Amino acid sequence: MNETRSNAWYQTRAAFGVLTALVALAAAGVTALLMNVSERKAERRMGYARTVSLTEDDTDPAKWATDFPIQYDLYKKTALRTATRFGGHAGSEALPEEKIERDPWLERMFRGYAFSIDYRDRRGHAYMLHDQENTKRLTKPQSGSCLHCHASVMPLYRELGDGDAMAGFEETYKLSYQEVNAKLHEMGHAHPVSCVDCHEPTTMEPRVTRPAFIRAMTELAASDAEVPALPSIEVWRKTGKKRPYDVNRDSTRNEMRAFVCGQCHVEYYCSSKMPLTFPWRNGLTVDDAERFWDEAKFEDGSEFVDYTHAETGAKVLKAQHPEFELWNQGIHARSGVTCADCHMPYMRVGATKVSDHWVRSPLLNINRACQTCHKASESEMAARVDAIQSKNYELLQRGGAAIVDLIQAIVDAKAAGVDDGALEEARALQRRAQWRLDYIAAENSMGFHAPQEAARILGASIDFARQGEVSVLEARHGASAAKSRGSDSSSR
Ligand code: HEC
Ligand code: HEC
Ligand code: HEC
Ligand code: HEC
Ligand code: HEC
Repeated sequence: MNETRSNAWYQTRAAFGVLTALVALAAAGVTALLMNVSERKAERRMGYARTVSLTEDDTDPAKWATDFPIQYDLYKKTALRTATRFGGHAGSEALPEEKIERDPWLERMFRGYAFSIDYRDRRGHAYMLHDQENTKRLTKPQSGSCLHCHASVMPLYRELGDGDAMAGFEETYKLSYQEVNAKLHEMGHAHPVSCVDCHEPTTMEPRVTRPAFIRAMTELAASDAEVPALPSIEVWRKTGKKRPYDVNRDSTRNEMRAFVCGQCHVEYYCSSKMPLTFPWRNGLTVDDAERFWDEAKFEDGSEFVDYTHAETGAKVLKAQHPEFELWNQGIHARSGVTCADCHMPYMRVGATKVSDHWVRSPLLNINRACQTCHKASESEMAARVDAIQSKNYELLQRGGAAIVDLIQAIVDAKAAGVDDGALEEARALQRRAQWRLDYIAAENSMGFHAPQEAARILGASIDFARQGEVSVLEARHGASAAKSRGSDSSSR
């Protein structure tokens, strides 16, 4: 920076500092006021007659039905089958269609990992425990932490931690899936995501319960990553950071309408080698997460890796449904439009206004999900979504072709006896290309949650895959593989 800064510069800076502090205080004040007002409104809205006393251990949604019959009936509808062009699921009623059969490049990419055995379409919340219990991925040993996002698991965490849920959660990764699942059934909590997972049982306030999410949000807040879609973190950072950021205490009510979903619809690592982890210490972008995993170590000190590719030997990362993260990069998040606005829009039932607890694709419901804000016709809104998704789909398929070409090139080079060391760079590029491709393939909106960001990620993926092929060619012709092609240039 400039070494000859004038006094005026310092004065301006000092004045700016004071101004920033004032603005921050004012913002905190306004936020507090808004939260207060919206809480009051909500209290009025939630002024139901309560006949049943509900506690933290009431994981059975049927018990909540007495006082909240409308939400319960809607919630039960998540068992109905739905499908759109890219959403919901194809396949039979018994089991959704295999993604790895529809897109064979997925299977090729996952060789050496359980996802190459069984990887299906998602479906409604009612099935989450059933589908997990029945996946063939469980033929490989899986950790008890899998249940974090597939069952109403909090009472079990408290039991395992002698009353301390965080401590109990810490235990689960060391236990097998079968052990923890058996205990869940034994205790009577074998329900899919339930009312108590998103609502405080006495006040019905929306809240989050999942330890991995609570911890990762604290780490994210403590970072200096930009989070323009998460105003409460900005406020917390500007108002002294006196205590660690606590998502239940510090977030706004509007943010909570996305955070309840962020408990599960996120990228994660889950195995017996470390506690369930969300990679948010550097921020929420695909590059931030990649950096997190690149730096991560297992508890025994060895380098972090999801799996070794069976054909190429590349040490690769597996991405999981980063809906929350991708949403964060989009215009809707930035405008304060949350998951619940589109996936649980308000509706009228008789004289009551309720949130649609039939969580599903908003395309089945454009009228309530979109047209409250967008004045275009229903068919026009559908066409806008389709235009985004079609373009994303095309790029995704190009990415699939590119990754298969790279894998094949490495396989052929190995068969031709090319020195293994010379293929290191190509394998590193496979890791980077595959991480990005998988990230957008695993994200369930087909690009809609942040179209430009999804295209940026797929563009980088295709570039890395083709760079990898060039690297293989160089290895085959004995050329120097060290030549810099700026493989880092797109990481920011
Ligand atoms: C502005 C509206 C909007 C917001 C906000 C939004 N989504 Fe979506 N979401 C969509 C649309 C549109 C699709 C594509 C649906 C389809 O293809 O049928 C989608 C797809 C999905 C899917 C796959 C749905 C299916 O039927 O397979 C999931 C899961 C999802 N979103 C979760 C989330 C989560 C979690 C958040 C918040 C972090 C969120 N969405 C925020 C509009 C939204
Ligand atoms: C406890 C974890 C958890 C929470 C919390 C959660 N989900 Fe899900 N969600 C899942 C799982 C698991 C599935 C897939 C179930 C299956 O395929 O059996 C799923 C499926 C979905 C689908 C696909 C539905 C369909 O019909 O295909 C949508 C849409 C969705 N979730 C949106 C949301 C939104 C929006 C929120 C927040 C209001 C949310 N989820 C909260 C775990 C969760
Ligand atoms: C951080 C939350 C989270 C954890 C931990 C988690 N899941 Fe899921 N799982 C989800 C969500 C969200 C979906 C729905 C979105 C999708 O299918 O992409 C899902 C979908 C699934 C599905 C249905 C679709 C498919 O992939 O075939 C299966 C089966 C499944 N998970 C098994 C597991 C297993 C086994 C583990 C442990 C290794 C696990 N899950 C851990 C959140 C989680
Ligand atoms: C995945 C999270 C999730 C689950 C599970 C869930 N809810 Fe909700 N619920 C929400 C969200 C988000 C809102 C909107 C809160 C807000 O904006 O203040 C809401 C709102 C409500 C409200 C306030 C009135 C309304 O409809 O807006 C009631 C009452 C309610 N839920 C009851 C239930 C009951 C009963 C169950 C179980 C059958 C349940 N909820 C399950 C997320 C959830
Ligand atoms: C609560 C209000 C709200 C809801 C609900 C909502 N949107 Fe939006 N949408 C916005 C805002 C705000 C923008 C940003 C542009 C602006 O400021 O005019 C936007 C932008 C968009 C864009 C342009 C995206 C881009 O990247 O430039 C599309 C497409 C869109 N919305 C589609 C939808 C669809 C489809 C739904 C329903 C699934 C939906 N929106 C629901 C408020 C909303």
